[in-house]
Amino acid sequence: MREKAIGVFDSGLGGLTVVNEIRNLLPNENIIYFGDTARVPYGNKSPKTIRAYSEENVRFLLSQGVKVIVVACNSATSTALDFLKNTFKEIPVLGVISPIVDELKREPVPGPVGVIGTRATINSNVYQTEISNALNVEVLGVPCPLFVPIAEEGLFDRSFTLSIVEEYLFALKEKNISTLVLGCTHYPILKRIIDFYFEGKVKLLDSAYYTARELKKVLIDNELRSFAKTNGSVSYFVSDNLEGFESVASRFISDSFENLNLVKN
Ligand code: DGL
Repeated sequence: MREKAIGVFDSGLGGLTVVNEIRNLLPNENIIYFGDTARVPYGNKSPKTIRAYSEENVRFLLSQGVKVIVVACNSATSTALDFLKNTFKEIPVLGVISPIVDELKREPVPGPVGVIGTRATINSNVYQTEISNALNVEVLGVPCPLFVPIAEEGLFDRSFTLSIVEEYLFALKEKNISTLVLGCTHYPILKRIIDFYFEGKVKLLDSAYYTARELKKVLIDNELRSFAKTNGSVSYFVSDNLEGFESVASRFISDSFENLNLVKN
């Protein structure tokens, strides 16, 4: 069991920000990544649809023989994590939200917290509820649906991007938030421009590193940590657009993408 791969899925390629951190922290582990590029984005879909897609994604990863599932998508974590945990009791299933909430609990948070994400994530209220229960601070959620295509197109340093950032984040700036949670796996790519907009005065947190840290703990606690002495590899699977994969994926992770496969439904 220990030498099986870690299964990671996302609606598309944003989850590769999580894979990047898993590779840094757990270099000897093999990873199987599934990006549902045929059905991305999940962020504008209903919870029922996201749950159904997520269940199929987990079944695919299990068919590849994985030892743990990482739901590297905030939209899927916020709407489907509990359902997935109840449906697949045979292996650990973890998401990207509680690792951030646990991190926030480590140090005092001096003022209101902003959370940005897709419509599905913000409308689920999961971040807002978990953070305000844990910290007793005001939490303000703002959906930023245009950030996903901007990240995928690599348009993070354009002047119109700054205008969109301002349009979405103005209310949070007015509220003097102390911390901003980047609650979408695509958003780390926009960190610089968001930091510029807040003039470096707001602490920006994204889940990629904290999820990898939580995964390490889950593997150790469940005696699933690989004993391999050599570096592991990543196998990439997508449900569509194999041709466009490399140019978009390389914005999220540096790899030669030697093991890239199309999953036919
Ligand atoms: N990966 C999704 C998330 O983290 C963003 C893209 C989508 O809407 O599917 O919420």
